This record gives sequence, structure tokens and C-alpha cells, in this order.
Amino acid sequence: MDHFIYRNGQLFAEDVSIDDLAAKVGTPFYVYSQRTLEDHYDRIAQAFAELDPIICYSIKSCGNVHLCKALADRGAGMDVVSGGELHRAKLAGANMAKVVYAGVGKTDSEIIDAVNAGIGWFNIESEAEFENIAAIAKRLGKTANAALRVNPDVYDSKTHDKTTTGKKETKFGVDIERAKRFFERYGQVESLRLNAIHLHIGSPIYSADPYVAAINKAMQLIDDLRQAGHHVTTLDIGGGFAADYQTGASPLAADYAGQIVPLLRDFHAGGGTIILEPGRTISANAGLLVTRVLYLKTGGRKKFVIVDTGMHHLIRPAMYEAFHFIWPTSVAPQHEPNARQETLDLPGLETCEVVGPVCETADAFAKDRALPPVARGDLLAIFTAGAYGMVMASNYNAFPLPAEVLVNGDRATVIRKRQTYDDVTALEREAMAV
Ligand code: LLP
Repeated sequence: MDHFIYRNGQLFAEDVSIDDLAAKVGTPFYVYSQRTLEDHYDRIAQAFAELDPIICYSIKSCGNVHLCKALADRGAGMDVVSGGELHRAKLAGANMAKVVYAGVGKTDSEIIDAVNAGIGWFNIESEAEFENIAAIAKRLGKTANAALRVNPDVYDSKTHDKTTTGKKETKFGVDIERAKRFFERYGQVESLRLNAIHLHIGSPIYSADPYVAAINKAMQLIDDLRQAGHHVTTLDIGGGFAADYQTGASPLAADYAGQIVPLLRDFHAGGGTIILEPGRTISANAGLLVTRVLYLKTGGRKKFVIVDTGMHHLIRPAMYEAFHFIWPTSVAPQHEPNARQETLDLPGLETCEVVGPVCETADAFAKDRALPPVARGDLLAIFTAGAYGMVMASNYNAFPLPAEVLVNGDRATVIRKRQTYDDVTALEREAMAV
């Protein structure tokens, strides 16, 4: 699953003790395990090897340049959604031909940068966007490839409403009927070669079934398009493979591949290219958020554990009611967790609400969570926080962003410094007349 393990009651990231790290870098901080990141990438590469896919790591899930670089060094392409993410992909040394660029609101300057960089595909969301990118590429005297984002009207009922994207009424993509008209209209444009179909049905998707339904629809569409004389060389099946938030509750890469690979075998054998855009399944279990207990307090029958991080650093519980396993980094032997889940059958646990310092009631990581006894000054680890953690963090309430640390074996490196108050206010130092 990952390389965050307890040894004699002490939590380690690979071979580095979390408590030692906290003493050196202070709290709160994100810590990533490079081996976990790489293992998760390799598992996808192995599970889908028969299709020889381009694996475009979804930068939006965790975009630190050092992590992106570790994956680019392994051959990963990148899925970007903004000029800022394209910049990160460049800094990471990613192969631009393996970059796909999605997103409903690409600006002209972002498009110019991406055309000039020679990215692999623009994932197209609308007719107006296609025309704009085609015109820009023509003006630059360049050509680019386009994948039409098709909305297959498929979704997973377990996926949170806020992260479901494959339903008919979303802002993403076009429906299948419109896709055919799209190819009729734009299939012959020279500056923007429309030669691919893109899907993304949501995140996370907890079983392979929605992929099967969506891919079947996409393959039917590709057949129809080919019969109508269109050139479709590539299918991008998007992201959404789940992460292991609760031990064993999510499929593994091999489970998804077991059902998906057979559907795409013929397409691949006929020269088709497959693209995957995994984010969370690579990065989520590769990261922890480490925080210190500031105070304990009771309110009615409730025991509050107040920590030095909150929704400003990890917004998922507040925004999606997401579950993150939380446990002290240093525990007595009988309290070493034997699984990561809502309730553990261990002696002497106390039910707590773990909350942050932000002035919002929503600033809670867990409402009724059984934890070993904790005291002021103890460290807690918030697990499976690598994806959509730091990338969604903000300076709300003027709290500085936490540091990020990368562990590789017994080496730990600060890969993003903790912000200072000066960093937080830096862009406000001078006022300029406009
Ligand atoms: N491709 C596209 C077009 C996407 O929109 C996304 C995620 C991905 C790939 C990567 O999905 P993944 O493999 O990471 O599931 N903030 C939410 C998740 C938002 C996902 C947005 N799109 C969360 O914390 O759960």
C-alpha cells in the first residue's frame, strides 16, 4: 500500500522517523515517500503494459516539481489543466509530447505557451474552444493534436457529487451525438488535428464498472467515426482510479486493468494509442500531513483535539466529507494500528473530534474518531493526504503554507520551504497606480 509504517510504536516514512523530521522542520508539514510514489506509478505501468499506454500523471493531484520530476524520470507524461501546471511540467523535465492539456477555460496566453511547447494533445471541451486553439496554432504557424472530451453519461454513485464529472449535465465535454457533429465540422482542420477521444468520468471511481461502461460507449463512437471516414488514433480514458483511504476498500491498478485491458486490446493491436491520466492513485498514499496537538478541550460530552493545521492545509474533509485516517505518530505497542479505518478494535481508545484553528465550524478533520490518548505536544499523522492536499491549500486566516518534505530511503529533503509571514504578504508590499 505505502511506505508509512510503525516500528516499535514509531511512525516512519520509509527509513526516516516522523518525530525526528518534525523536530527538524517544525509542524505542520507534508511528507512524501518517493518509493510509494514510484511503486504506484510502476503498478499502473505494469498492469496496463500490454497496451503500452502513455501514462500522464495528473499534476493537479500533487504538483510539487520534485515529485513530478521523479515521475517524469520514470517515463511519465503529465496531465495539466493550466499554464501554471504546464510550467511545472516543464520544470520537471517532462517530455512535452506526452503532455495532455485539459480544462474548460484555457486562456489565449496559456494556449500559446502550450502550442509553442509542442504538447501532445489539447483536450477540447467546446466548439468555441476548438476554433480558438486552431486559430492560434495557425497564427503561430504550428500544428497541434486535439482530443475531444466526450461525456459518456456514466458515473459512480459512490463518488462525491462535487467530483462527479461524467454525467450528462456537467460543464465538461460534449455528449456523444454532438461528438459526431464535432468531427464532421472540424475533422479536417489542418492546424488542429482532431484525432482522439478523451473521457474522464470522475474521481475517485471505486470500481472498474463505470470505466467499462464509458469505454464501451467510446469504442462504439470511435467505430462510428471511423466508418464515417474520420481518423481516430487515440483514446484517453482519463483519471479517477481510487486511492487506499481505508485499508483494502479500493481496487488496485491490476483490478482496473483486468477489466479495462480486454476492451482496448483490439484498438491497440490496430495501432491505437491509449492514454491514462492517473493522479490520486499515485500520489494520495504517498503523502502524510503531520500536525502537532495544541490543546485538548471538552465541550459537552465531546473531547476536542485542537491541532496546528486545518482546512486551510487539507480541505478534503470540510469540502467533501472525505475520510482520512488519523493516528498519533508515537504510540504504545498495543496502539499500533492494524488497519486504517474509521473504527479500530483496540483497547483504551477515546472518541474525539479533531479540529483545526480556522474560524469555521467546517474546520474539522474527524467528528467522532476513536484515538489512543493524546496530550498537548503530541504529533498526529493525517494519512493518504498526498493527493489534493497541498495543491488545494490556501492562506486563509493568513496562515502560512506548510513545508513539504520528500523521503527517499533514509534521506529526507525539504522540497518546499514553509512560508513565512513575509512570503504571505510579499505581493502586497508595494501599491502601484494603474
Ligand atoms: N483527468 C482529468 C480530466 C481530471 O479532471 C482529473 C481530476 C484527473 C484526470 C485526475 O483524477 P484522479 O486520478 O486524481 O482521481 N479535489 C478532489 C478531486 C478533484 C478531481 C478533479 N479532476 C478531491 O480531493 O477528491
